[in-house]
Order: sequence, then C-alpha cells, then structure tokens
Amino acid sequence: MNDFKPGLEGVVAFETEIAEPDRDGGSLRYRGVDIEELVGVYRFEQVWGLLVDESFEPGLPAAAAYQGGGLTGNTPADLQSVTARVGAEWGLKKLIDITDDEAREDLRRASAQFISIAAQSARLADGNTDQVDPAVVSQGKTTAERFLLEWRGEADPKHVQALDTYWICTCEHGLNASTFVARITASTGSDCAAALSSAVGALSGPLHGGAPARVLPMLDAAAESGDPESYVESLIEKGERLMGFGHRVYRAEDPRARLLKGTAKELGAPRYDVAYKLEQAALAALRKKSPDRPLETNVEFWSAVVLDVADVPPQLAPAMFACSRTAGWSAHILEQKKLNRLVRPSAKYVGPGTRSASSIG
Ligand code: ACO
Repeated sequence: MNDFKPGLEGVVAFETEIAEPDRDGGSLRYRGVDIEELVGVYRFEQVWGLLVDESFEPGLPAAAAYQGGGLTGNTPADLQSVTARVGAEWGLKKLIDITDDEAREDLRRASAQFISIAAQSARLADGNTDQVDPAVVSQGKTTAERFLLEWRGEADPKHVQALDTYWICTCEHGLNASTFVARITASTGSDCAAALSSAVGALSGPLHGGAPARVLPMLDAAAESGDPESYVESLIEKGERLMGFGHRVYRAEDPRARLLKGTAKELGAPRYDVAYKLEQAALAALRKKSPDRPLETNVEFWSAVVLDVADVPPQLAPAMFACSRTAGWSAHILEQKKLNRLVRPSAKYVGPGTRSASSIG
C-alpha cells in the first residue's frame, strides 16, 4: 500500500479490543460496555480497571503521595518530565524484558503516581508550597477525592462528582494522537513510565486535549458580546476554528459531550446557560458554513464547563485530561506489548533528486 493519507485519516494501524467509538451511532463503549452505563455508577479507578484488566477490581490503587522534588508548577511539563524521571528512579524494567503481569503492575504504580504528581504540581501552581499531609489525602475515598485533597486540602462533593465524571468520559478513545504516541514508544520496548511520559507531549497543542483551555475564554467573550450568534459568525468569518466542535471520528453527536452536558446541568454549572446558547449558535453557523460536513459538539466543549464546576483553571485542562488518559494509555501500552511489533511506517520521499553538495548555496 503506497497511498499517502495526510493525518493517516482512515488508516487502520492496529486492531484493538479496548474501546469502540461508534462513529455513526454516536456512542462509545469501553471493552463493550456503553459509557452511559458507567457514569454515576462506577468510579474512575474502577473504569481504569475495566480498560486495563477487563475487570472493575482491583482497578487503580490509591497512590503513595509523590515525595520527590523537581516540580515547577507547569503541570503538563511536570507530568512529562517527572514521570519519566520517576520511572528511571524506580528502576522500571523495559517492557520487552518483563511479563504482561509485571507490566500491568508497573502501569498501575506509574499511573497512580502520575495523578499524584499532577495534584502536587497544581498545588504549586496555586502558590502553595506547604508539604502535602498524607493523613488528609488518605481521608479521600475515591481517586478524584484524593486528587482534590492532595491539590487543595479540601474536596467539595460537587467538585468530586464533576472530576470523576469528566475522567470517566475522557479516559479512552481509540487511536487518538496521544495514545498513538504511547503505543509507538511502547513498541520500542521502553519502560511504562517513558511511554506515559511521551504521550503527555501530544497534549500540548489545542487540537487534542487542549481545547477546554480555549473554550472558557470563548464563552466569556460570547457572554460579554451579548450576542452569541454574531460572535460565532465573526469567528468563522475570520477563518478561526470554534474550539470544542468537530471531530475526526464522530460524524453524529459525540456521546461524551451529551453525558457531560447532562452533568453540567445537574451540577448547576455557572456557565451552563451561556454554553448552551453558544452551542446552539455555533452548530447553526457550522451547518451554514459546511452543510455537507457534519461538525457537532465534541467532548472538550462540555468538558470545559464541567471542569469549571470543579474550579479547574483552563490552563490545567490538558493535565486533567492526561490524568484520565492514564487508563486508555495503559491499556494500549499493554496491548502493544502483546502485539510485540515495532511501529515504523513509511514516508514517500518527494524532495529534490540526487544532487551534489556543491550545488547547495
Ligand atoms: N470550527 C470551524 N471549522 C471547523 C472546525 C471547527 N471547530 N472543525 C473543522 N472545521 C472545518 C475546517 O476548517 C475544514 O473546513 P474547510 O474544508 O473549509 O477547510 C473542515 O471543517 C474539515 O476540517 P479538518 O481539520 O479536516 O477536520 P478534522 O476532522 O481533521 O479535524 C479537529 C478534527 C482537529 C478536532 C477539528 O474539528 C478541530 O480543529 N476542532 C477544534 C479543536 C477541538 O475542539 N479539539 C478537540 C477535539 S476532541 C479531543 O481531542 C479529545
């Protein structure tokens, strides 16, 4: 096969048993279970187990609070660098040298530590340099609750529900950019922490995992303008992308957006009304702009509104997304280990023909 597909759209690179985004039906299943059945019934750590072990138990364990130094308060950067360093400090063995069960244990330990690193980095970003009190953190009954306790020393039940729902809705979605990166790294036989760390870098742009950071300013600007329709039209006229709309996979509704919208309403999200109005205006404008290409609300639009309920500042959204994706990434790292095949696609050379070095100025 020599066809070049920009962005690899439609190219099947792997077979997977982990998640099934139902492109036309507007649903998403983790190991065959519709996420509609999971939200509000199971907790994130159990869904982590469903994805990685195909079992809700034991799931993701409570993390030992991160004890090392080196945090900067730039949470995505901390997740990338400190996770890789912790793997080396723990002496994690290479995936190529360990059994599947050993890899599973490494992923469990590294993912739990990853979430603790995120909490403590966010704490530092808030200007709080006090040591985390492990006794306070251990009062938390769920991963989301412990995360908030480790970050802020308190966990409002509404914030816990917002975060837990967000994490369940975003923890796996097939071969997206960051998961592809995790699989590529794992395919080289790396250790688990290196594979998780490399995936974080793929979240630094706004097109994957970073859109919520741009959705809230858009909502505020729409509210300030007092006229969401004209505001949206003006963005489209300027050729800008509306953050939180469109998806490479879904042509129908993104089921995660539907679930998160319900949660935003249930929790009385402060920006629910303005988000609702902007969504209606945006969908109408996008239909007018591209009548033949369905561009619907994606997960990141309502994620921004739900994270706002938990007082997560927009710039922390990619880190929150990374914490949830420890589930999907870990499941894919294991699947890649079992496949045991280096990822190495081809590029079609289209550069200059053979020429001498002396012809270069
Ligand atoms: N606003 C305005 N126009 C859009 C949008 C948007 N959000 N999304 C796509 N389009 C338009 C493009 O301008 C393009 O129009 P053209 O053919 O006239 O040039 C057409 O739709 C196709 O765009 P592509 O980039 O080819 O669509 P693709 O399916 O590859 O893109 C993507 C998917 C990257 C998510 C895109 O819709 C986008 O940039 N959305 C905004 C960012 C965003 O919300 N990201 C979060 C995605 S969910 C996640 O990562 C967890």
